[in-house]
Order: sequence, then C-alpha cells, then structure tokens
Amino acid sequence: MTQAALTQAAERLRTAQRVFVITGAGVSAESGVATFRGADGHWRRHRAEDLASPEGFARDPALVWEWYNERRRKLIGVLPNPAHHALAALERQVPHFLLATQNVDGLHQAAGSRKIETLHGDIWSTRCLQCDDQRTEPDRLFDTLPPACEECGGMLRPAIVWFGEYLPPEPIAHIEAFLTAGSPVDIALVVGTTALIGYVQTWALGLRDAGATLAEINPEQTLLSAHADIVLWGPAGRILPQLLEEAGLRPG
Ligand code: OAD
Repeated sequence: MTQAALTQAAERLRTAQRVFVITGAGVSAESGVATFRGADGHWRRHRAEDLASPEGFARDPALVWEWYNERRRKLIGVLPNPAHHALAALERQVPHFLLATQNVDGLHQAAGSRKIETLHGDIWSTRCLQCDDQRTEPDRLFDTLPPACEECGGMLRPAIVWFGEYLPPEPIAHIEAFLTAGSPVDIALVVGTTALIGYVQTWALGLRDAGATLAEINPEQTLLSAHADIVLWGPAGRILPQLLEEAGLRPG
C-alpha cells in the first residue's frame, strides 16, 4: 500500500457523511478464520455445491452438517481482530453508516458493530425443515448429525443462505434504503472479499458511478480492483486502523 493511496482514502473518510462498507471472509482471516477461495480456503478442499447448496444438503445432510459443525467448533473462542474493531469504531464516528457483511461468523457484532446487515445468515442459527422453528444458539455443537428439531423432531438445516437461494429480503431492503436515501454515499469500502457474488459488484460499481469513492482493502487483486478509485493493498487488520488514524478518527 502506498502512503499516497492511504492519504487519499483518509481525506475522503475525514469529511464523509455517509459511509457504506462491504466485508467478506478476508476481514476475519487475521482472527484465524479460514476464507473460501484462498490457499487454505474451504473451496480448495470441498466443492461448494456439495456443502453450500440445497441440492448438496438434500443429497447428504450429515456431510453438510459435519462441515458446519466443524466450522462452529473452530469458531468457539475466536475473537474479533483490529479490522472488526476499526469498523465498529468507524460506525460510531460518521453520521450515516452501514456495514453489509457476507460473513456468518458474528465477529463484527462481537466487536460492537450495530449498523450491520448480514447477507448470508448466522452460523449459529438453525431452521427446522418441518415446522420452520428458527433459533440461534451461540457455541452450540451437535452430537447427532443431522440434528433434530427440539419442537417437532424434524430435520434442522443451517440458517445460511446457500448458492442458488435468494438473499433474505429484509437486509436487502435496508441496504437499498440506505443507498438511495438522503445524500449520496461518499465512500464505499470493500474489504476482504473476492467480490465474485453479483450484488457486491452491483452495489460497489453502482455507488462509484453515482459519485462515491470506491476504495478496496485486500492483500490480493480482485475483480473490483481495476474499477476501484483507491486500492489499499494489505491485510485489513493493519490497514483499517491506519486508515482511521490517518483520517483523524479513533481506530478502536
Ligand atoms: P473469499 O474466500 O472468496 O475471499 C476472501 C478475500 O479475502 C480474498 O480476496 C482474499 O485476498 C482476502 N483476504 C485474505 N486475507 C485478508 C486480510 N487479512 N485482509 C483483507 N483481505 C484478506 O470470501 P468471500 O469473498 O467472503 O458464501 O466469499 C463470498 C461468499 O462466497 C461467502 O460468503 C461464501 C462463499 O462461497 C457461501 O458460503 C454461501
């Protein structure tokens, strides 16, 4: 990352009234959480369609649950890192702020983020396929897979948005309202995501076309990098606190 890029992004952030942030798995990498497409990513060892699609779940629910149970187990005791803390601090210091995350690990919320929309659900939430009972049980691991509903005995599924499924309407409506209400977004930060999923690109490029500064934070090039106004190459846990400090904001 060059100092010039950091200074440019910080100047924009310093005076910003409306800030929109999109995060992906990379923001949790420095907490020790595996990403999906990186060198040690989930999709290097498993096929996404086997583990994160309704068809994969219908074929082998126990296999899908083994993967989710294992991801749950690895998340117990994991703490937010300086990137999560910096975004929670940023939320408290700008007039209008919204964070849209693709992550299901709850680390943004653990760091104190409240103006947040979770696009893909919560890894600690389940939904019964029979009676639709939904519950969120942090740190819960299951002995019998697939687990059964305590209400009706039906099969539980992870309450996660899988490939081929619609995004939940509520967060989308909140995000669309934020993006179109009042004054335009001044700066959009895209942090730790390959930005392969369509709506991430739509929001980011739409905001840039509407006049927002599009800034990306990522140690690697993504589909968005060539279209961003500013790219801050590097790990989010280092760059985000630096960016806030440079903008005269408290980083945590
Ligand atoms: P990916 O695994 O596709 O991308 C992670 C991104 O984080 C990559 O661009 C990395 O370069 C970057 N990265 C790695 N370490 C970083 C760090 N320390 N700081 C900043 N960036 C870092 O994850 P997502 O883009 O979140 O969906 O993937 C989007 C969705 O696809 C996920 O929600 C998941 C996945 O399949 C479902 O499971 C439905």
